[in-house]
Amino acid sequence: MKGKILVTGGTGYIGSHTVVELQQAGYEVVIIDNLSNSNIDVLDGIERITGVRPVFVKGDCTDIATLRRLFEENPGIDGIINFAASKAVNESVQKPILYYRNNLGTLLNLLELMPEYGVKGIVFSSSCTVYGEPDANPITEEAPIKKATSPYGNTKQISEEIIQDVVRSGSPIKSIILRYFNPIGAHPSAEIGELPNGVPQNLVPFITQAAIGVRKELSVFGDDYNTPDGSCIRDFIYVVDLAKAHVTAMARMLEDKGEGPVEIFNLGTGRGASVLELINTFEQKTGVKVPHKIVGRREGDIEKIWANPKRANEVLGWTADTPLDVTLQSAWDWQCRLRERGVM
Ligand code: WQD
Repeated sequence: MKGKILVTGGTGYIGSHTVVELQQAGYEVVIIDNLSNSNIDVLDGIERITGVRPVFVKGDCTDIATLRRLFEENPGIDGIINFAASKAVNESVQKPILYYRNNLGTLLNLLELMPEYGVKGIVFSSSCTVYGEPDANPITEEAPIKKATSPYGNTKQISEEIIQDVVRSGSPIKSIILRYFNPIGAHPSAEIGELPNGVPQNLVPFITQAAIGVRKELSVFGDDYNTPDGSCIRDFIYVVDLAKAHVTAMARMLEDKGEGPVEIFNLGTGRGASVLELINTFEQKTGVKVPHKIVGRREGDIEKIWANPKRANEVLGWTADTPLDVTLQSAWDWQCRLRERGVM
């Protein structure tokens, strides 16, 4: 085995896809998840893909005793990938205490215990949200960090600062901070994918649910932005490409190849696509119509943001090169599998 990795939030959307890639790269995986926003059945999907059922601990990372017990019962953990966090932007506005307690408490516990249990490095799941509305696109890691537009975004900014401060204090740990753009799609096997609880907040699960008839129609939040077709622009990255970047980052840390104790990478395709372009691409690729209507803007939405992924491409040797239409097909295949299984 290449090493043992703790994946917090490992039954979640990006976490589960990363567990698959870690196992297929030869790592042993331990998952801790409180199942607040995911389902234990995801473990079956992972096992169907890789043939290996990861060790699973149901627990809350904000409870340090739970984490301590996990490290005692699973010795030899070399690295951590931390996905465990609440991540709904608008919910964070209504429930800031929950977001600060959960997202920051989890990270603080992990950082405190890592040196005690000889854990070398932590990959932190951050977000392009830290940039706010960019002054220019594509955006590099040197772009200014603007005041967060939501408590969720603020927890990502504060978390990055906590990591820097802990390392600066002399902690022996290393960290790679990955700033995601917009992860979409599902594993090509259609055994795992995005399955948000309740009404989807994010665009692509709403598109596939509207296309299959679970939702009456998609509301497009605004077509009066300063963009070619008036709808917002994002950098939509295939979740499997994103997952592979985590494996590369973990190997870089465990093999001591980093240029410093903390490194930061934008994970995007480098290509912007608008909401309406995405809908059209989905319809052309799948042949399925997406019932939708234009409505008013959504509070807090960024007008346009896409990545300059040059540093990740050159330093990590990683590129997100899955075409958008293939990615959207994977999302549709997953939605169809959920229908076959009677899930929705
Ligand atoms: C994308 C575009 C909407 C839904 C969020 C988080 C970010 C990251 C990704 C975690 C926007 C439009 C959406 C709908 C729509 N999460 N839209 N109708 O807001 O770019 O980013 O998810 O790391 O941190 O902020 O993603 O998918 O919600 O929206 O028109 O029903 O789709 O207005 O322009 P977002 P999103």
